[in-house]
Amino acid sequence: MAAPLNICVLGGTGFVGTRLATRLARDGHWLTLPARDPDRAQALRVLPTVRLLKADVHDRAVLDRLVEGMDVVINLVGILNEHGHDTFQRVHVDLAAKVVAAMRAGRIRRLLHMSALGADLHGPSGYLRSKAAAENHLRAAAAHLDFTVFRPSVIFGPGDSLTNRFAGLLRLSHGWMPLARAQARFAPIYVGDVAEAFARTLLERATFGQTYELGGPQVLTLEQLVRLSAQASGLPCHIVRLPDALGRLQAAVLGLLPGKPMTLDNFRSLTRDSICAEDGCARLGLHPRAILEVLPAYLRPQTGAVRFGAYP
Ligand SMILES: NC(=O)c1ccc[n+]([C@@H]2O[C@H](COP(=O)([O-])OP(=O)(O)OC[C@H]3O[C@@H](n4cnc5c(N)ncnc54)[C@H](OP(=O)(O)O)[C@@H]3O)[C@@H](O)[C@H]2O)c1
Repeated sequence: MAAPLNICVLGGTGFVGTRLATRLARDGHWLTLPARDPDRAQALRVLPTVRLLKADVHDRAVLDRLVEGMDVVINLVGILNEHGHDTFQRVHVDLAAKVVAAMRAGRIRRLLHMSALGADLHGPSGYLRSKAAAENHLRAAAAHLDFTVFRPSVIFGPGDSLTNRFAGLLRLSHGWMPLARAQARFAPIYVGDVAEAFARTLLERATFGQTYELGGPQVLTLEQLVRLSAQASGLPCHIVRLPDALGRLQAAVLGLLPGKPMTLDNFRSLTRDSICAEDGCARLGLHPRAILEVLPAYLRPQTGAVRFGAYP
């Protein structure tokens, strides 16, 4: 095995981050995970090479100290919806610029950056535009930065907010779901495969400066994803496909609810298929798992009641 590396993972306490940290810790790497609330990430404390600490990654001075002496920095920080001062500009774009600047100041070169499939400066949603603007900060710094960008489609796995959320909503509504953009297409990828993609590229020179689109082996519509989630959870499923005008209205209303189950920006993202134009997994020698291989293992009907409780 290669020598252990010092790795700072920003956003390491989230769904992907927890999986990635576990994967990297398994290889013996030393991980620094700044978190807004480390107490919420207790599961990571059991990993002997993981150091969880409370830190505000938006503070440049804090960031400078965090990246100091690191072999690799990984930025997974991301939001699907804006909340208060946590705008896409601040969390995606400004933070990416600060990470790049802190790494330059500390003479740290290696950065793995999480973007999203469909990232585009002229994309339909603030989410997709901000993901592209963040990537541009990396490309502008290519002279002093060895970066790799990952652009996954939707990611599924235990604890995801995709299939678990569909199952939770269906349970609450006795199987009825009015669905906007039911025909939107995705290439869902397993969280373990996303973590593996990151793990394979750590110091791999061939991946420097590269962008990898990550998608699973199947293309599914949103409606198919909901139906599979229902099936795996043993729930009935009656989908009412909403025309765009109603879908937009639904998103506007849901965006006003606590927790924002859906927003207009999400709706706009859905107007573009989230499928790969190139096979980033193949370029990394990865054979991503099909959703049907994994879904029944964590969306079992008998455990559903406990898990769905997390999504009131
Ligand atoms: N999940 C998907 O389907 C998917 C698909 C494509 C791309 N991505 C991208 O993958 C990355 C990870 O996604 P995920 O599903 O793991 O999301 P997640 O579970 O919500 O985790 C997001 C992480 O970012 C941190 N974070 C969020 N807002 C922050 C802020 N304002 N300041 C500091 N830290 C903040 C969170 O910290 P706390 O623990 O403190 O909240 C958490 O560690 C994101 O960049 C996302 O855009 C995800």
